[in-house]
Amino acid sequence: MSSIARNGVTAVEEFKNKVQARTARVGIIGLGYVGLPLALLFNEERFPVTGFDIDTTKVATLNAGDSYLYRIPPTEVQLARQRHFSATTDFARLRDMDAIIICVPTPLDEYHQPDLTYITSTAESIAPYLRHEQLIVLESTTYPGTTEEVLLPILENGSRAGLKAVRQGQSGDFYLAFSPEREDPGNQTVARRDIPKVVGGLDPDASDLAANLYGSIFNRVVPVSNPAAAEMAKLLENIYRCVNIALVNELKILCLRMGINIWEVIEAASTKPFGFQAFYPGPGLGGHCIPIDPYYLSWKAKEFDFHTRFIELAGEVNLQMPYHVVDSVGKALNERQKAVKESKVLVLGLAYKKDIDDLRESPSLTIIELLQKQGAHVSYNDPYFPFVARGRKYNLQMKCSNLDDLDQYDCVLIVTDHSDYDYRRIVGEAQLIVDTRNATKGIESSKIVRC
Ligand SMILES: NC(=O)c1ccc[n+]([C@@H]2O[C@H](COP(=O)([O-])OP(=O)(O)OC[C@H]3O[C@@H](n4cnc5c(N)ncnc54)[C@H](O)[C@@H]3O)[C@@H](O)[C@H]2O)c1
Repeated sequence: MSSIARNGVTAVEEFKNKVQARTARVGIIGLGYVGLPLALLFNEERFPVTGFDIDTTKVATLNAGDSYLYRIPPTEVQLARQRHFSATTDFARLRDMDAIIICVPTPLDEYHQPDLTYITSTAESIAPYLRHEQLIVLESTTYPGTTEEVLLPILENGSRAGLKAVRQGQSGDFYLAFSPEREDPGNQTVARRDIPKVVGGLDPDASDLAANLYGSIFNRVVPVSNPAAAEMAKLLENIYRCVNIALVNELKILCLRMGINIWEVIEAASTKPFGFQAFYPGPGLGGHCIPIDPYYLSWKAKEFDFHTRFIELAGEVNLQMPYHVVDSVGKALNERQKAVKESKVLVLGLAYKKDIDDLRESPSLTIIELLQKQGAHVSYNDPYFPFVARGRKYNLQMKCSNLDDLDQYDCVLIVTDHSDYDYRRIVGEAQLIVDTRNATKGIESSKIVRC
């Protein structure tokens, strides 16, 4: 086990005492959609929190008491600043931390394979500053094995003092765990602290410490036996969503052909009090999780000569959805004696889901590109994005259009059903509405095409 700390108090006890006294210093690496709210949650609970990021603009913004995330108002950051929250790009300050939590991106590379470079470079930044009795937790979504096979060796090999992680039944110097993030952007129904936190440590002490730390800000902690189980639990959650969304997307296309309203069907099926959970069709998957995470497992599975067929099939169906939407626009225009070429299309909503300011992997971007390739003149409106510049895949360079003169467009295409839109007015003023989200539910008009 780990060394005995001063005055006969074990390292584990000392860590827990610090957590209880709120003197445990918490460092959060990666101050994005996941890391910043987490840092603020620890700060709210009176922990001394330091945020680390390589993005100098984000660090300067936070230290100036401002925010770059829509759902976090500047006042929240200012309050945190008063409680001594600060952000830094100086990774040497990691050595002062008792717990370090990693929340950096885990995207796919251009070949649709896991891109772990953010995790590996973060590990390289931590390693020189590792010290005895620190707890390191990875929160980034990733394939089972990452914590032990990727993070652990970089930390140990890069540690200047030759520190070793505490392993099952062996002594060591620092603790390592994985604890997945379960953020659901835009969901106001569950308070962050009410979302149970899964933790899996490299050894029982690491699990215990991580559970203790998170237990001080979350109402329920769910320990599992090792990091891989925690990594897999997160992937199961997201694969479950991905597969079920694919199922309803496929059934939607069948229902359209059969003249059945899929939304009505889902609503009816949802009345079953057991054994059914509603998932909804849409224009395609978006966000940093559902379109990406399942492929982390597919990639890892190959190492075990295993083919994850559900994931591949779901991916195939979901990836086709933007193409289905563009085909539907083409058909709707055709019925009105118009071609896609030279038509004016207004895309309503760019975010990958309603009421959020996140554009990553949004199907709207693919849809815009496909429409432009067919010669349409595409504009967009989204209250969350005044301008769209270069993204990971697309370089649209477009400015948000206002919602005046809707009848100038040959088609208004609802891609994201933001709550702020007045759909009745939009239907009243537009020539044609193609609705991918059932946003016009309850409005009867021959101008509406649901797809
Ligand atoms: N966004 C979500 O809703 C969500 C939900 C659950 C899980 N996750 C997972 O959480 C992780 C983080 O996602 P996110 O949405 O917060 O990403 P993000 O892009 O919003 O934020 C990541 C932050 O990490 C910083 N960063 C990158 N490399 C760094 C480095 N080497 N050192 C320090 N900082 C670095 C970036 O500058 C950025 O501020 C991902 O693995 C994601 O899959 C995200």
